[in-house]
Amino acid sequence: MSQSRAYDPRSATNPLFNDNKLKLGLFGTNVSNGCAITTAPEALLTSWPNTLSIAEVADRYGYEALVPVARWKGFGGESDFNGTCFETYTWAAGLAQATKNICVLTTSHVPTVNPIMAAKQACTVDHISGGRFALNIVCGWFQPELEMFGAKIMEHDERYDYAAEWIEIIRKLWTAEEEFDFEGKFLRVTKAISKPRPIQAPFPALMNAGGSGKGQHFAAKYADMAFVLLTSHDLEQSKAQVDAYRRMAREEYGREIQVWSYGYVTQRDTQKEAEDFLNYYVLEKGDDAAVEQITRIMGIQAGIMPPAALEQFKFHFKAGWGGYPLVGTADHIAGEMEKLSKIGLDGVLLSWLDFHDGLGRWNRDVMPLLEQAGLRKPMQGLAPRRS
Ligand SMILES: Cc1cc2nc3c(=O)[nH]c(=O)nc-3n(C[C@H](O)[C@H](O)[C@H](O)COP(=O)(O)O)c2cc1C
Repeated sequence: MSQSRAYDPRSATNPLFNDNKLKLGLFGTNVSNGCAITTAPEALLTSWPNTLSIAEVADRYGYEALVPVARWKGFGGESDFNGTCFETYTWAAGLAQATKNICVLTTSHVPTVNPIMAAKQACTVDHISGGRFALNIVCGWFQPELEMFGAKIMEHDERYDYAAEWIEIIRKLWTAEEEFDFEGKFLRVTKAISKPRPIQAPFPALMNAGGSGKGQHFAAKYADMAFVLLTSHDLEQSKAQVDAYRRMAREEYGREIQVWSYGYVTQRDTQKEAEDFLNYYVLEKGDDAAVEQITRIMGIQAGIMPPAALEQFKFHFKAGWGGYPLVGTADHIAGEMEKLSKIGLDGVLLSWLDFHDGLGRWNRDVMPLLEQAGLRKPMQGLAPRRS
């Protein structure tokens, strides 16, 4: 469990390593519609004032992470889900300057960025933020967006072999005192060097959310934050899933990793109101054409779940990228968060149809319950990491 993890010097600057038992992040505030595949007008519109004001609220209330989505092209349908999107290194740089406490991540598709460029950009954001940065490494699966770059998408497992070379080079650039050469199967650098060192030592936090066996091994070997998609919603099975992941990282790579998941939130004063609102944006207004395209390509390109299971999961995809449902009153949602902590999760990324409205409700009603339950410390007890 995270509580027994050894002290990480990065905790001095990066809230991902604080001692809150259940950490919280926001998912997808840089892309249109966020995580909700729907035509409901309350869904997120991509504009800088919008993404900035959401980040400022999350920062003030002590959330640990802002995780953007790396997207280059929308998924079509009436909503063109995620079609309007900010590039994530520049987005992270802007938000790093505008915030004081929260960890700002970039999400980087490895085949789209040269590792020297990625190391340098990431290091720059680490400095802007004062050491509150993390790099989410994604290999990509949405073929049409990656093929815009002019090359065929690699075969699934080969993508992770490529990513391993990419991150090996980056870690070396962040730590090497002398110029070095690297000659891999895919990547080569010559007399490479990058200064300054990142603020976080030995290097910034890394995230990977691979769901396939190959992806999970990659995350266990390289990432500080790994993810599980809670497909069964049965807590015993989910606990086994989380335990197995942690055990694999420990036994095969000698590493302690944080295991996170993600969930979509619809909070109202009664259970019925919450469910009615969920049904409104998912069943009445859900963008079936967009979700069709996602599950079809994901079924072929990602190892997250078999095509038949994806089909059954379409409701949750429309509600919030297939996340765990956090739907109901504040009490009910806080109870669900306690369960997620009990299965061994270190953190949960959250999304709402309407982030502004949702954050307001959560901060007012759910956050105090999480504090009472001992899952989180009150924000006023935390000193700002940067004045
Ligand atoms: C929290 C989370 C964030 C993710 N962010 C992105 C992203 O921004 N862009 C992307 O193409 N894939 C993203 N993915 C997909 C994963 O990187 C991964 O490709 C997917 O889970 C399938 O696993 P596999 O690659 O091991 O088959 C994300 C997944 C999760 C769970």
